[in-house]
Amino acid sequence: MKIIIFSIAVFFMMLCPVAAKFDNSMLQGVHGDKQILPKTCRACHRGMNMSIRNEEQSCFNCHGSPVKRQRMESAGMLRGAAANRLANIESELRKPYNHPVLTIQGVHYQREILPETIVNSARHSECVDCHEPHLVSREQPYRGISGKRVGNFSTEITKEFELCYKCHGPSANLPAGSTDKQLEFRPTNRSYHPIEAEGANAHVISLKSPYTARKERPEDVSTISCSDCHGSDNAAGPKGPHGSIYRGLLVANYDMDDGRGESTHAYALCYRCHDRTSILGDESFPYHSLHIVGNRSKNQPGTSCFSCHDAHGSSRYQFLIRFNADVVEENMAGKLEFKAQGVATRHGSCALSCHGVEHEPKNY
Ligand code: HEC
Ligand code: HEC
Ligand code: HEC
Ligand code: HEC
Ligand code: HEC
Ligand code: HEC
Ligand code: HEC
Repeated sequence: MKIIIFSIAVFFMMLCPVAAKFDNSMLQGVHGDKQILPKTCRACHRGMNMSIRNEEQSCFNCHGSPVKRQRMESAGMLRGAAANRLANIESELRKPYNHPVLTIQGVHYQREILPETIVNSARHSECVDCHEPHLVSREQPYRGISGKRVGNFSTEITKEFELCYKCHGPSANLPAGSTDKQLEFRPTNRSYHPIEAEGANAHVISLKSPYTARKERPEDVSTISCSDCHGSDNAAGPKGPHGSIYRGLLVANYDMDDGRGESTHAYALCYRCHDRTSILGDESFPYHSLHIVGNRSKNQPGTSCFSCHDAHGSSRYQFLIRFNADVVEENMAGKLEFKAQGVATRHGSCALSCHGVEHEPKNY
């Protein structure tokens, strides 16, 4: 029904000149600029057939390969300097770790309400889940996308994490092994990377400038965003978490397996903001280096930050502690726990078993 009404609307718009007014109000933001998209609606809507299922293909005409873009320019659909700035989103989405825009088709529908409430329903992500093509603007990249819930109402999204929580927050259809990110980043947690608010720890000694735990000068950065960690491996590539060559759709490499060996590359993601010299110099946890680099005299390999830390947050422990269950086990007394002695005391204890080494508990 909607498609029929829509087809009629487009049909009349293309025939009668009066429709020009309707034109302008429907299409705003970057795509509404006639200097750039002279043929407005027709740049995306071809003839009578508005296929919603493959909307990304119409986007790739301009946000894909240079060959397709030139075709749009020749057809008079795209004009001006902005055309040369357009990045190739299609090639990002073809990278090994990506949002499944190309692989999952026909699940998205208009007016759907997310987070999903039906268990086991199919998951998806389309361009139009994250961008409203009639309204998107440089200043407000989420303009027109609704979903942030306030009580029973759904309001427009203004912050990136609100967009991500639509599908990675309290969704009834999260895949096995995937967790609710909204819970992990809650500012009432014992610890969390500072996305929604400044972090729980006021003294994070390893932070590199401009990052600080508390914003004191204008140049300080004390909150970060999902896309500081998730996005293109190419720093000069397009913004946004479309695709990456790194596992986890991360902007830099992060070895999560045990026993790989320490290097700038192995934990490149963390070392962007946390000084490697400080971490390996044991400025906070006095046994960081022993665990990360390993103990050569005992022929013990090092382990990943991932064995002890969660990259998002922890409702249970301070310092983002979360033991990787594939590596860390209960000790002989059946205990597996971390106890801190407050922030900035640099003392605590661990009860666990790891690589056959009993911590019953071990104090630091
Ligand atoms: C940049 C590409 C693009 C341009 C330009 C564009 N549209 Fe769309 N339009 C889309 C896509 C993609 C959808 C499907 C949206 C979805 O599935 O959520 C759509 C859907 C629609 C719908 C159905 C929306 C609904 O909520 O039922 C209408 C009506 C529409 N467009 C009208 C227009 C008109 C009129 C113009 C010109 C003034 C225009 N569009 C220009 C990409 C575009
Ligand atoms: C006819 C060419 C064309 C088509 C088709 C097209 N776009 Fe665009 N898009 C542009 C241009 C030009 C810009 C402005 C780029 C600039 O100013 O740097 C832009 C900008 C954007 C932006 C970025 C806003 C910002 O922060 O700069 C998004 C997001 C976007 N388009 C999404 C889409 C989606 C989704 C579709 C498909 C539904 C689509 N576009 C289809 C030409 C197009
Ligand atoms: C419309 C739904 C939707 C939205 C909005 C969304 N995602 Fe996703 N995301 C998915 C789906 C579907 C997958 C595939 C795996 C799954 O089902 O969780 C995925 C996968 C991911 C992955 C894992 C990729 C991998 O290869 O390991 C990351 C990281 C991710 N998304 C981050 C984000 C971030 C950051 C945002 C906000 C900017 C976001 N997502 C917004 C649907 C969404
Ligand atoms: C400090 C870096 C960092 C930040 C900030 C960050 N992530 Fe992640 N994220 C990671 C790492 C590392 C992994 C892979 C390891 C893992 O699964 O814990 C990951 C994995 C994921 C996954 C795939 C695993 C799963 O549970 O589905 C999703 C989805 C995801 N992140 C979403 C988000 C969202 C949404 C935000 C912002 C609200 C965010 N991340 C912020 C580092 C980060
Ligand atoms: C984009 C910058 C950024 C990246 C990348 C990053 N961090 Fe952080 N991290 C921060 C900031 C800012 C804080 C300060 C939060 C606070 O004040 O509690 C922090 C705090 C921490 C804390 C202390 C939290 C607490 O409550 O005591 C740990 C542990 C941590 N990060 C580990 C990691 C690990 C492991 C990685 C790699 C997977 C990583 N970080 C990647 C910016 C980053
Ligand atoms: C899971 C959500 C998600 C999906 C799916 C998605 N994007 Fe994005 N995209 C983002 C985010 C987040 C940004 C960064 C916005 C910002 O911070 O400016 C972005 C940025 C962009 C930009 C601007 C890049 C730049 O460097 O200025 C374009 C263009 C774009 N997306 C087009 C697309 C197209 C076309 C598709 C589908 C083929 C698509 N996106 C699918 C989330 C998404
Ligand atoms: C064997 C477990 C373990 C491993 C592996 C580990 N950490 Fe830690 N880390 C801790 C503990 C415990 C603390 C809390 C120390 C305290 O009480 O102050 C900590 C504290 C931190 C802090 C907060 C204080 C500071 O230094 O700024 C950061 C950041 C951090 N770790 C980053 C990392 C990174 C990055 C890696 C990997 C390169 C890593 N950790 C590997 C156990 C570990």
